[in-house]
Amino acid sequence: MKIKQIKVHLSEEEIEARIKELGAQISAEYGDEPVCLVCILKGSVFFTCELAKRITSPVEIEFMSVSSYGAGTSSSGVVKIVQDLSTSIEGKNVLVIEDIIDSGRTLSYLLQNLKTRNPKSVKLCTLLDKPERRVVEVAVDYVGFVIPDEFVVGYGLDYDQRYRNLPYIGFVEIEDEEGEASE
Ligand code: IMP
Ligand code: MG
Repeated sequence: MKIKQIKVHLSEEEIEARIKELGAQISAEYGDEPVCLVCILKGSVFFTCELAKRITSPVEIEFMSVSSYGAGTSSSGVVKIVQDLSTSIEGKNVLVIEDIIDSGRTLSYLLQNLKTRNPKSVKLCTLLDKPERRVVEVAVDYVGFVIPDEFVVGYGLDYDQRYRNLPYIGFVEIEDEEGEASE
């Protein structure tokens, strides 16, 4: 598959304005309680950095890498911890930061796993939510944007490891074998 073009769906300004709102909401809810942001690599890196800057509660940042997708655009259904947290989350308020919730398989597995480590609380914040694609139920506490069932790239999200560095979020238009564009 070849990418013909990427259509802007959410501009950098729109994304950053929404992250500001999320940061204010999260700060109001945690207050002076410390919160441990668990950034899910690699897609959530850009979102985590921007969001962390907007949270006024004491923040700690940790990283975790989970594999759910291969090189294509559909879920394999197999979730594996590729890189675990480097510290204990026992007694901490954990806020998992995800780029997108699609089938829900990755997060459902991850939340269950984190809950076994005796944190004080576990909440979930995602930049994007594609509810139409849900296969497994996941309770999402903070959502940046609900998007339709289309493959997106940018602001951390990749297509075969590319396009993560786009400052906006765009829909991918694929060129078929005859050279005609389809979404
Ligand atoms: P889930 O387990 O199906 O919810 O998959 C979540 C993961 O799939 C995300 O963390 C992304 O890495 C990837 N993903 C799902 N949809 C998209 C998309 O539209 N663009 C890029 N990556 C996606
Ligand atoms: Mg990915």
